[in-house]
Amino acid sequence: MKDRIKKLQKEKDVAILAHYYVDGEVQEIANYVGDSFYLAKTATKLKNKIIIMAGVYFMGESIKILNPEKTVHMVDVYADCPMAHMITIRKIKEMREKYDDLAVVCYINSTAEIKAYCDVCITSSNAVKIVSKLKEKNIFIVPDGNLASYIAKQVKNKNIILNEGYCCVHNLVHLENVIKLKNEYPNAKVLAHPECKEEILNLADYIGSTSGIIEEVLKGGDEFIIVTERGIQHKIYEKAPNKKLYFADTLICKSMKKNTLEKIEKILLEGGDELEVDDEIAKKALIPLERMLELAG
Ligand code: 13P
Ligand code: SF4
Repeated sequence: MKDRIKKLQKEKDVAILAHYYVDGEVQEIANYVGDSFYLAKTATKLKNKIIIMAGVYFMGESIKILNPEKTVHMVDVYADCPMAHMITIRKIKEMREKYDDLAVVCYINSTAEIKAYCDVCITSSNAVKIVSKLKEKNIFIVPDGNLASYIAKQVKNKNIILNEGYCCVHNLVHLENVIKLKNEYPNAKVLAHPECKEEILNLADYIGSTSGIIEEVLKGGDEFIIVTERGIQHKIYEKAPNKKLYFADTLICKSMKKNTLEKIEKILLEGGDELEVDDEIAKKALIPLERMLELAG
């Protein structure tokens, strides 16, 4: 099936993009694999008119907003990130009324409707850099409260206002499991995604995006305690099969696992539903996304 997909992808001049959390076999047939910032940025440089996104809905939606002339297919339109919905427009409006000198910063893990009410987007790989560059004193970060409290620790001269959203996968990590692994493997560096709770991040030697974590492993060292979704191990073992990885908990993002080879082959053969974003919303949501690309450099 992998060979058939690769042949069809070439014949039809389709670009397949995949996130590091999708199954390894899907990452293997993708033309581009990366973290959410890399995927958004890469899509703006592609010549292909058709893009298939193996990831979660906000990723395809961001690609469509940045490239309205392209046809974008989600491998599975029901692969949604629950955190993307953990903020309301009403709450954003309330904050804008409450604070004068305010920037509303949305994690890319948010809906297009929410992006349309925000000033700038961030991803875990550029969040600290972008928030540091903003001129406003008060920064409301939505929807992820854990990422926001991580940014607050790094950017001390801003008043970071937290929202109560969270990733239901990273929030599951148990502190005692990380401590147990640290005791068992005292030489292993702890690498964690900033969507983890503060108590977990306090134990980390490195905090970063999925690409950041992979780069950190490949840089050097033999053993690592990894605190993020399991899918990340595929790329690491592909590049460095001898590394020893210990996972604190079995973190699986069910939405990411909805991306399968069968569904990709079906889209290549029959076409599929095109991802559409309302014109007005897309126009407004484009502003924070483009600002992210500009500020992230
Ligand atoms: P990255 O930007 O680090 O790839 O994270 C995306 C995500 O959804 C993590 O849960
Ligand atoms: Fe959303 Fe969490 Fe899945 Fe990432 S791992 S897509 S934040 S539910």
